[in-house]
Amino acid sequence: MDRKQALLQPIQVGDLTLNNRVWMAPMTRSRANNEAKAPFDIHVKYYTQRASSGLIITEGSQISEKAVGYINTPGIHTEAQVEGWKKVTEAVHKEGGHIFIQLWHVGRISHPDFHNGDLPHAPSAINPHAKSFTPKGFKDTVTPKEMTIEDIKQTILDFKNAAKNAMDAGFDGVEIHSSNGYLLHQFFSRTSNVRMDEYGGSIENRARILFDVIDAIKEVMPENRIGLRLNPSLHGIFGMEADEETIPTFDYIIEKLNQYDLAYLHLSEPFNDVSEIPYLEPHIAKRYRPMYKGTLVINAAFDQEKGNQVIAEGLADAVAFGKPFISNPDLPERFAQDASLAEWDTDTFYTPGEKGYTDYPSLEEAKVD
Ligand SMILES: Cc1cc2nc3c(=O)[nH]c(=O)nc-3n(C[C@H](O)[C@H](O)[C@H](O)COP(=O)(O)O)c2cc1C
Repeated sequence: MDRKQALLQPIQVGDLTLNNRVWMAPMTRSRANNEAKAPFDIHVKYYTQRASSGLIITEGSQISEKAVGYINTPGIHTEAQVEGWKKVTEAVHKEGGHIFIQLWHVGRISHPDFHNGDLPHAPSAINPHAKSFTPKGFKDTVTPKEMTIEDIKQTILDFKNAAKNAMDAGFDGVEIHSSNGYLLHQFFSRTSNVRMDEYGGSIENRARILFDVIDAIKEVMPENRIGLRLNPSLHGIFGMEADEETIPTFDYIIEKLNQYDLAYLHLSEPFNDVSEIPYLEPHIAKRYRPMYKGTLVINAAFDQEKGNQVIAEGLADAVAFGKPFISNPDLPERFAQDASLAEWDTDTFYTPGEKGYTDYPSLEEAKVD
């Protein structure tokens, strides 16, 4: 039994001491199948089962009605949702865990069916030609409405309000979802943002909304409880098309993040093979570890061995595990015991109810069965 491995060492994140570096990546599970889109008992059970993670980052949670793009995703903009989340955070804390909520706006990865027939919002009126998971099944995305300056200001306020709600709900912090082709990422990219005002054009302008969001959230919570997520080499997924300015844009953003005392920067290695694309970076941790001075958490397709290695090599401070946490609620303990991992079932990733959600046993429970 090796409890000395890098992944199992405690880590200080701002004023929080986290038990280990095996963090749970944010994962949409679409279980909030109620009118209020509020977490309830099964969310409490699911997250409590995973409380031994050094830090749980919740599923993406919409910051407003306009931010929705998938069915049965929970929000963090109403009282009922705050009440639902309170039960989750209390239960996780009781188990000694820590939990941040991921603040989400999908932008153009949505459908008029979610907005009483109105168009989804985006930096520019460019259809991502992706799919939206609506109450009537997968539908093609449409050409979104180009946001006005007023829409942008309102969205920044919505992020701030959601962060305030997150504090009221007892979260230890928030993760800004500025990744994976959703609204903030849509602003960063020249292929989804052709605006001519202060939120488009230059790299600085395309990145502006992110810093406006951070500055707004800082007004309602400590800076060292704010994390954020980026996926610099995302290409051909969720409607994102990279170009020559993509990596320089992320270089600019990550350099500038050093001006803040954030909880962490959460980066993803490329989701697909980008080694043939000359202007994309295939080694995200290697490029950005020297550039970013704060806590860096790395994600995508890590296992125990690679996770220990990336920390030992000094390329990241923690690793966020996604799918392994779906089917292995006690993942840190399994790593400690060098135990084999249970397989996840993709069929139940987004289906309502407890099946494939709260019925994966811990190692201990599996032994008893
Ligand atoms: C079911 C599922 C839902 C996901 N939902 C989100 C999400 O809400 N927010 C997010 O930033 N990433 C989301 N992701 C991406 C994961 O956080 C992670 O980046 C991805 O699964 C790769 O990590 P892994 O190889 O450890 O699973 C999701 C992934 C899966 C499998």
